[in-house]
Amino acid sequence: MLRESNQLVSKVLGMLAREIRPGISTEWLDKLAEEYIRSHNAVPGFLGYRGYPRTLCTSVNEEVVHGIPSKRILKEGDIVSVDCGVLLNGYYGDSAYTFAVGEINDKVRKLLQITKESLYLGIREAKAGNRVGDIGYAIQQHCERHGYSVVREMVGHGLGQNLHEAPEVPNYGKRGTGPKLLNGMVICIEPMINMGKRYIVQDEDGWTIRAGDGLPSAHFEHAVAIGENEAEVLSTFAYIEEALGEKEF
Ligand code: MF3
Ligand code: CO
Repeated sequence: MLRESNQLVSKVLGMLAREIRPGISTEWLDKLAEEYIRSHNAVPGFLGYRGYPRTLCTSVNEEVVHGIPSKRILKEGDIVSVDCGVLLNGYYGDSAYTFAVGEINDKVRKLLQITKESLYLGIREAKAGNRVGDIGYAIQQHCERHGYSVVREMVGHGLGQNLHEAPEVPNYGKRGTGPKLLNGMVICIEPMINMGKRYIVQDEDGWTIRAGDGLPSAHFEHAVAIGENEAEVLSTFAYIEEALGEKEF
């Protein structure tokens, strides 16, 4: 069931990948996502969650996560994290990707590259017998080695019949610490990585989280099932990669 929900989220992100370009609003992306989800017998997973007003979270440039889709027009050189959740047959899907809007500069592309790599390094640790801290350690090491910083206040999470379940999955940590990972557990790993300092502030809207120093922030998220020897990645960026072709960001 979780495989199906996460495949649907992945298809939504793949569909949106074809629409993201300078001149469109984040509200338009939200409308497309909601229609797509409803036409596939699912409902938006974030809409109404603790009063959240939309289907997607769209976080632009220094916005880290939980940006609310609006009339804001995306412009050349922006980056936008698109985070999508669905509820299908009682189970949640949850995945996110940070897209380039038109051409972005090399420094920002590197931030996206390293953050995405760190997600997969974290996933490599998501196997039975390891601990949650092993995931965070792998992500933190990779990002800090490149001079980036890890947001502490926001974390990954278990996923199932609820959007957020135990355990919390921080993107920082020490090897061999934290809850033990067991075969069959499903968790979302979602590094939120700042080009500058790790500190964040929350907007007056009660949702938007942004980097305090105003520098860009990247966010990628996969849902994975813990396996005996390796994780099964339940979401996929294959639809996005198909849509973007050679150009990853
Ligand atoms: N992927 C994010 C999260 O996991 C999205 C939550 S947005 C909310 O936790 F609006 F639903 F809160
Ligand atoms: Co999540």
